[in-house]
Amino acid sequence: MIKKCLFPAAGYGTRFLPATKATPKEMLPVLTKPLIQYGVEEALEAGITTMAIVTGRGKRAIEDHFDISYELEHQIKGTAKEPLLAEIRSLISQCTFSYTRQVEMKGLGHAILTGETLIGNEPFAVVLADDLCTSHSDGILSQMIEVYDKYQCSVVAIEEVPKEETDKYGVIAGNPVDGTDHTYRVTDMVEKPDPKEAPTNMAIIGRYILTPDIFNIIRNTKPGKGGEIQITDALLEQAKAGRV
Ligand code: UTP
Repeated sequence: MIKKCLFPAAGYGTRFLPATKATPKEMLPVLTKPLIQYGVEEALEAGITTMAIVTGRGKRAIEDHFDISYELEHQIKGTAKEPLLAEIRSLISQCTFSYTRQVEMKGLGHAILTGETLIGNEPFAVVLADDLCTSHSDGILSQMIEVYDKYQCSVVAIEEVPKEETDKYGVIAGNPVDGTDHTYRVTDMVEKPDPKEAPTNMAIIGRYILTPDIFNIIRNTKPGKGGEIQITDALLEQAKAGRV
């Protein structure tokens, strides 16, 4: 059973500057909710109530968002605005939130390893809140947990991207399982390949189910593209063993 969801949220968000100069990327709103709230809602919908968040310097707004603001609550109590806080209040009452800080931003793989202290030795979900996923049926994480229950191995979400954009993503190659073209056993993964070298146009998006052996693999993973410790490189180890 997947009980915990890890949210790596320590990155600098440089691609969104200047919006992210003093505001965490994960707190940027879509309509009236910050991105990370959508991620927490998706995890909760998948039956997960323990949220483990990897933060860093300048990210305190995330902790404050998932906490009560007494002054604000007092100010709007009994007014027409009170229902605006209903959703976030409900999330706070249903979930627990724990935090750890990544001291040096050495990449997504390193951020996930930093979260080990909050996860322990069990399979877990990972949500990159800046990938906002919507669905007409079950949420993406719910669908991925179904795949995990069936295959008991790591699971990554993929989407088809235009071939000329593969250099923005981790790209997979794989063999269809289940007789459908929706689920693949991954055979190869490449981080941000040049379109000429990309094995497919199937790109990894920010949703993962990881088995806990990933932590030891990351510990032994050398910095890759951009000098960062890449989760894609660690996952490739599992993929080579047919475990993604
Ligand atoms: P991104 O590469 O999208 O985030 O990482 P970034 O590094 O913040 O963005 P740019 O490249 O500077 O624009 C995906 C997720 O992993 C987290 C980010 O916060 C984001 O949610 N991350 C990335 C960490 O927590 N730590 C890191 O060292 C790197």
